[in-house]
Parts: sequence; C-alpha cells; structure tokens
Amino acid sequence: MSSIPILTKKKIAVLISGRGSNLQALYHYIKHYQLAVEISLVISNKEDAAGLIFCKEHNIPNQVIVSKGKTKAEFDQQLLETLQTLKLDLIILAGFMRILSLDLINIFVDKIINIHPSLLPKYKGLDTQQRALDAHDTKIGASVHVVTESLDSGLIIAQIELGIYPDDNAKSLTIRLLPAEHQLYCYIIGLWARDVLSFSDNIICLYDQALNMPLQLKYVD
Ligand code: GRF
Repeated sequence: MSSIPILTKKKIAVLISGRGSNLQALYHYIKHYQLAVEISLVISNKEDAAGLIFCKEHNIPNQVIVSKGKTKAEFDQQLLETLQTLKLDLIILAGFMRILSLDLINIFVDKIINIHPSLLPKYKGLDTQQRALDAHDTKIGASVHVVTESLDSGLIIAQIELGIYPDDNAKSLTIRLLPAEHQLYCYIIGLWARDVLSFSDNIICLYDQALNMPLQLKYVD
C-alpha cells in the first residue's frame, strides 16, 4: 500500500508595527498560490497597528508585545521567548519599526528578512524617497535583505526598481513604490517556499546556483 506524503508547511512569523499592507499581500499570495507556508503568528509591537484588524478578520494568529514603556532588553527578551516557542523557518519583518538586538539576531541567523524602501545600499534608515530626490536620482526601489546587527545592511536578496518622474515628490514615490514592494516580497517568499531560493552565509542560491548579485525584478504595473 503506497502512503500519501505528508506536506510539511514552512512556518513563518510576520512582525509589524502599523498598516500591514505587506502582511496582507503575503497572506493573499500564500493563499492564492497554495504555498506550503503557515503564518504561525503575526506579532505587533503596537496595540493599535491596523494590520492586527486584518489578522482578526482573517483568523490569523496574532499577538501584541507592547514595546512602549519597556527597555529594549525587556522587549527583545519577550519577543525572543515568543519566537522560540514557534519553531520557525523564517521571520519576516514587514514595517516593523524596531531595531532587533544582536542576541536575538544571533539566534535566528539568516532567518530574519526585511523589506526596505530603497535600492540598498543606498538610503538605509528613514526618509528614503526624499533622500533619493535630494540626490537627483533617476530611480527608486525596494530591497529584501537578510537582517543583521547593522541597520539595513545584511545580504541583499532581491530588488525591484521604478523610474522617478519629473513631477514626483516623496509622497508620490512612496505611493507608487508600495505595490512594487508587495510584488517583490511575495515573489521572494514564493521562491523560498518552493525551495527554489535560499539565502545563507552571505550567498543567494537560485536553483542551486550561487548568484553574484541580488535578484532583480521587473515591476509589473
Ligand atoms: C514599507 O514601506 C516597508 O518598506 C517599510 O515599512 C513600510 C511598511 O508598510 N519597511 P506596511 O506596514 O507593510 O504597509
């Protein structure tokens, strides 16, 4: 008698602080493409994060670990204890506005990724679009990268870029970039879920071939 293989789902946690549009895009993508991925938990460090409403509406396990009023060590310890109970394959930062401690990052080496709204290594940190405009750049973009101890500096896995129009401002760029971010994050998670893409020890592998540069995505409007 042949036995039916049991599909093991990869377990992810998504960390948010606000709107959660990347979380929403990921949720719909995982569902639509029936990826073998389970969103084990969404964690927000803010009680009023709009992304939590989406979780409740879609029965996604969610938890608030309030950061306000706690020391960084206290918050990170609580976060770490929660993450460790979940046996996660990947931790996805999606608008999570905290810098994680080295202790936590060292426990989840190559297992935490983030999306940043710039073509890294340009414009780490905040106000990325205004800084691109001030520098008279002709393009902006988003990057998915591995989280390390230095801000927005880990291995860049993939990027997507958009042109800057003459009448663009920081707000219009942010609005135009958001759907491209969603496309990028979803695509990367799709490849990772299917074991097509891996990223560890500072090496990106696609179909078992090491890449010498980040994956470049074309934005489909
Ligand atoms: C995105 O622009 C992302 O690049 C940045 O924070 C924003 C989060 O948006 N890290 P959302 O909460 O996913 O809507």
